[in-house]
Amino acid sequence: MTSKEPNADTESKTGRDFARRYVALSPAAPEGPLGLVELLPGSGDIEVEIGFGRGRFLLDRAGVAPASRLLGIEVKRKWAYLVAERAKSLGLANVRVFGGDARDILLRLGPDGSVARVFMHFPDPWWKKRHAKRRLRGNELLDPIARLLRVGGELFIQTDVEERAEVFLADLREHSAFEVKDPGYVVENPYGARSNREERAIADGLPVFRIVALRRA
Ligand SMILES: C[S@@+](CC[C@H](N)C(=O)[O-])C[C@H]1O[C@@H](n2cnc3c(N)ncnc32)[C@H](O)[C@@H]1O
Repeated sequence: MTSKEPNADTESKTGRDFARRYVALSPAAPEGPLGLVELLPGSGDIEVEIGFGRGRFLLDRAGVAPASRLLGIEVKRKWAYLVAERAKSLGLANVRVFGGDARDILLRLGPDGSVARVFMHFPDPWWKKRHAKRRLRGNELLDPIARLLRVGGELFIQTDVEERAEVFLADLREHSAFEVKDPGYVVENPYGARSNREERAIADGLPVFRIVALRRA
């Protein structure tokens, strides 16, 4: 724990107070348009991870692809804060983190065609009907990703929930900007790093449904 992290011994112990502190501490995206080239200076491929959670993939990917420049977006402010601190302590200069809703941040990112890869590992399934509107899916998700990806760029989605994977596959096949090669799923995660949930699914022997969609010309 860092000196700034809310401390259960000295702070009020209510969850709401902790949540407020993390909102204040987590790296929020600035207002207005967000230029990826300015946010992540350099010349390597730009990659975006949506909903990185505890951040294992983001941090490991930054290590295995040191030439890449990575932006992670996570709505849970606590994780955004902790992963940003971890990236700092590991000296990962090629990682930037925003605590916020990907549905807002993706719309503000630019320039068009600047992103090589977008990753979404184990998106929340939101089983309950009343939570379904929180699901990241459909054109609300795919249109801004299509705009940001360069031609030939990759969108990688993996989940252990087969019915969610089938919906992603159908949405991608219907979307004119994406191509998914048959048979639809790929066996391996080709990116040299695994997410926390992926590690857990593998350890538990669960099937993982992985999709690589390519941005068409
Ligand atoms: C099931 S967890 C998976 C975490 C991580 N990707 C992994 O595989 O270990 C889904 C993550 O997506 C995040 N998330 C859900 N909706 C989001 C949104 N609209 N914007 C950004 N992150 C979101 C959640 O907070 C959570 O951390």
